[in-house]
Amino acid sequence: MKFLISTTAVLTLLVRNGVAQNITSDTHFYGLSPSIPPALLPSGTTDSWAAAYSKATAFVAQLTQEEKNNLTYGQSTRNGCVGWIPAIERLGFHGLCLQDAGNGVRLADGVNAWDSGIHVGATWNRNLAYQRALHMGSEFRNKGVNIALGPVVGPIGRIAEGGRNWEGISNDPYLCGALAFETVRGIQENGVVTSVKHFIGNEQETNRNPSTNNQSQHVESVSSNIDDKTLHELYLWPFQDAVHAGSGNIMCSYNRINNSYACQNSKMLNGVLKDELGFQGFVVSDWGALHAGYAAAEAGLDMVMPNAATFWAKNLTASINNGTMAESILDNMATRIIATWYQFSQDSPDFPVPGVGLPKSLPAQHVFVDAKSPSSKQVLLDSAIEGHVLAKNTNGSLGLPLKSPKLVSLFGYDAVAARTNPSTAGPTSRSSQILNSTMTVAGGSGANNPSYISSPLDALSQRAWEDGTQLLWDVTNINSTAAVDAASDVCIVMLNAWATEGSDRPGVHDDYSDALVINIANQCNNTIVVIHNAGVRLVDQFIEHPNVTALIYAHLPGQDSGRALVSLLYGDSNPSGKLPYSVPTNESAYGDLLSPGQPEGIYYLFPQDDFSEGVYIDYRAFDHANITPRYEFGFGLSYTTFSYSSLSITPISGPSTAEYPVGKIVEGGQEDLWDVLFRVTASVTNTGDVDGAEVAQLYVGIPGGPAKQLRGFEKVDVEPGKSVEVSFDLTRRDLSSWDVGAQKWQLQRGQYGVFVGASSRMLLLVGSLSI
Ligand SMILES: *[C@@H]1O[C@H](CO)[C@@H](O)[C@H](O)[C@H]1NC(C)=O
Ligand SMILES: *[C@@H]1O[C@H](CO)[C@@H](O)[C@H](O)[C@H]1NC(C)=O
Ligand SMILES: *[C@@H]1O[C@H](CO)[C@@H](O)[C@H](O)[C@H]1NC(C)=O
Ligand SMILES: *[C@@H]1O[C@H](CO)[C@@H](O)[C@H](O)[C@H]1NC(C)=O
Ligand SMILES: *[C@@H]1O[C@H](CO)[C@@H](O)[C@H](O)[C@H]1NC(C)=O
Ligand SMILES: *[C@@H]1O[C@H](CO)[C@@H](O)[C@H](O)[C@H]1NC(C)=O
Ligand SMILES: *[C@@H]1O[C@H](CO)[C@@H](O)[C@H](O)[C@H]1NC(C)=O
Ligand SMILES: *[C@@H]1O[C@H](CO)[C@@H](O)[C@H](O)[C@H]1NC(C)=O
Ligand SMILES: *[C@@H]1O[C@H](CO)[C@@H](O)[C@H](O)[C@H]1NC(C)=O
Ligand SMILES: *[C@@H]1O[C@H](CO)[C@@H](O)[C@H](O)[C@H]1NC(C)=O
Ligand SMILES: *[C@@H]1O[C@H](CO)[C@@H](O)[C@H](O)[C@H]1NC(C)=O
Ligand SMILES: *[C@@H]1O[C@H](CO)[C@@H](O)[C@H](O)[C@H]1NC(C)=O
Repeated sequence: MKFLISTTAVLTLLVRNGVAQNITSDTHFYGLSPSIPPALLPSGTTDSWAAAYSKATAFVAQLTQEEKNNLTYGQSTRNGCVGWIPAIERLGFHGLCLQDAGNGVRLADGVNAWDSGIHVGATWNRNLAYQRALHMGSEFRNKGVNIALGPVVGPIGRIAEGGRNWEGISNDPYLCGALAFETVRGIQENGVVTSVKHFIGNEQETNRNPSTNNQSQHVESVSSNIDDKTLHELYLWPFQDAVHAGSGNIMCSYNRINNSYACQNSKMLNGVLKDELGFQGFVVSDWGALHAGYAAAEAGLDMVMPNAATFWAKNLTASINNGTMAESILDNMATRIIATWYQFSQDSPDFPVPGVGLPKSLPAQHVFVDAKSPSSKQVLLDSAIEGHVLAKNTNGSLGLPLKSPKLVSLFGYDAVAARTNPSTAGPTSRSSQILNSTMTVAGGSGANNPSYISSPLDALSQRAWEDGTQLLWDVTNINSTAAVDAASDVCIVMLNAWATEGSDRPGVHDDYSDALVINIANQCNNTIVVIHNAGVRLVDQFIEHPNVTALIYAHLPGQDSGRALVSLLYGDSNPSGKLPYSVPTNESAYGDLLSPGQPEGIYYLFPQDDFSEGVYIDYRAFDHANITPRYEFGFGLSYTTFSYSSLSITPISGPSTAEYPVGKIVEGGQEDLWDVLFRVTASVTNTGDVDGAEVAQLYVGIPGGPAKQLRGFEKVDVEPGKSVEVSFDLTRRDLSSWDVGAQKWQLQRGQYGVFVGASSRMLLLVGSLSI
């Protein structure tokens, strides 16, 4: 998409001046993000934090100004924590260790590599998301991590080629928020604080940080220009769920919002996060995202990372001492940080010494701290299995599940595990694919080291041994001319679609891998394609080939990848994942939202990105533009079939249906936003022959909004011939739109469409409700 000047203010300026002019100063943009005064300490807003605040206030009262200042900025560390706040031992504070990543403890040995965010999204399984987080969180605790740097809910996935979309859960805010809620709950139950990130509008990697152009000029980060309604209904929604779940930390992002850097944007930090959402914890900057001195503290940033000597360091006390900044702001920051430490009982003697299991250098001598719990095994495997989505299947003698094959042929560069290297956090290819290696996780700070990797080749080999079948493989002949043994019962082709932090993807399909599939399919009438994909991956170049009998989106399963895949291929497990995004037939469906914005023309130094499409991304956009996708949001096949019946929509008596909420602010916003106003139920019947799990989905058409929006889902196991009732609670928030004038969520008057079904386009039961 093109960067355009966003606001009428600037357009007026340019027109009034008569000609286009090169903008040489960002004063042109000042004032677009309003200034909001520092949020007051959240004393008494939520009872659950009251005790922590009272202890923190007493603690901070004993600190010198320099000690308070030292709590607010990262310092170099004696261990392997990526962020470190030094101890104040005289008061029993042992410091704070902040560590990546969203899928497990990074830069460590003795830990598991769990499935990534997009994979969690594809499970559509609240309980499994919670269990994953609970077990993963215990590894962070055992390693002495105070603050785990995840989960990611931004990027939400606005740009199809976004390099970090896979770290997030889904580009639907409801699904993303629901599973982020469980992730926060699960990790924090261990006394480890989650840092939900990146707040906010960090939707592309291109120009995420300031840079110097080829004329030696300073180029600012991209500005995500987001209107207030879109902010609330899309980008803020999952953060709101995370705050509601009690997240103790939020990380502000690299980009600018309305031209003001996210880590010094007082409208977002003081106004939206701390005042409106009643956030009780503290805000940390993304690593290197601070670009100001005391002004950022006044804007609501509480802690800067990693080592901020050039901006904050002693300058906050200097700013207080020369009368520029009120000391109460530093007190507020220190109190928020210490209150969070108390809130999660990290002052307890039971909490491990910060950073204890994280050696500074893995190749150097250190004690091996095994942080894994034996009870994690089943959760790891279940999580890996359930994030696979069966998108195409030719049932009958071909396709899946495999029918006691005698000869299995395996192809593709993604079938075999590359060596894991202790000095890196995973593979670092920056092309479309990661060649010669199966992809269990994508690249950058969102990746960690596995304890082992079960590759597709390893797992199929094991299965061949168990069954006494033959396995042939050719995973090195990656130039798409591999020959096929004509007696093969099945050919499995393994591809991947790589992505990494720091750059956006070069495309959403690649010709090289497509050619490999077509070459095999030309020679094998039962070709099964498996794609490990870090984001959407189009398939139209081969999907209608008559010999392509099945397609699995395998996403990013973590270290149990091959074991999970084989279980699904052979029907030991029944696929139950659904797509947490849509797959269109070709790139043109995305319009301007395919690729990241690039700076251009006179705005080169101040790149602008207008989110003018509003909430219309992914299926909301495709519905709006009448584009039929290849595979719609929420779609996924099973080895059995399900039918839906008995829709019922019941108003809940009790809670008010007044236009606006009136409740006090709790964590996440006004308390009565979570009042349940309607309950929708339906019956799901397994009409096939095998056990299976179905994700029943509820969509609502809010008057004046998109045709339908996800507002409920429930995953249920159903035995053949049996029926199970699914139930969805619709809250006030679920049924509201953001009223910019009132600055409140507003229930609409009139008739809402209510749709229940198996995907966003298989809406088998249709009803309505009125308010
Ligand atoms: C803007 O800057 C470019 C490059 O320095 C220059 O070529 C161009 O003439 C300038 N345009 C205006 C309107 O000043
Ligand atoms: C950004 O600008 C839009 C349009 O004026 C406004 O609705 C929104 O509240 C602003 N947001 C921030 C964070 O400044
Ligand atoms: C604050 O941090 C600085 C930098 O590490 C250190 O020199 C100083 O001793 C610390 N001050 C206190 C009071 O701990
Ligand atoms: C500098 O970058 C601009 C914008 O990308 C490009 O148009 C121009 O050709 C570059 N100039 C040189 C000398 O590389
Ligand atoms: C912070 O203070 C140091 C010297 O103490 C100075 O070099 C630096 O420029 C200051 N940074 C800001 C943002 O004021
Ligand atoms: C006060 O100190 C801060 C930090 O060193 C500096 O940025 C600011 O300009 C100073 N203000 C005055 C009025 O001296
Ligand atoms: C992949 O492996 C083949 C065979 O070992 C080798 O020729 C090729 O260079 C490798 N490709 C990459 C990108 O590592
Ligand atoms: C692929 O391999 C075949 C033979 O193995 C060779 O003839 C062909 O040139 C190769 N193609 C490419 C693009 O390397
Ligand atoms: C499908 O595979 C068979 C070999 O099993 C091959 O003979 C046939 O040509 C293939 N079909 C197409 C359309 O390539
Ligand atoms: C597929 O190909 C195999 C091996 O060439 C052959 O035995 C089988 O009959 C074919 N099946 C179908 C359904 O075409
Ligand atoms: C791409 O998809 C759009 C619908 O999204 C369709 O109208 C168009 O014909 C397709 N183009 C090609 C080249 O397949
Ligand atoms: C298999 O295909 C038939 C015919 O297309 C269809 O009626 C049936 O529902 C399918 N069964 C499953 C389990 O997908």
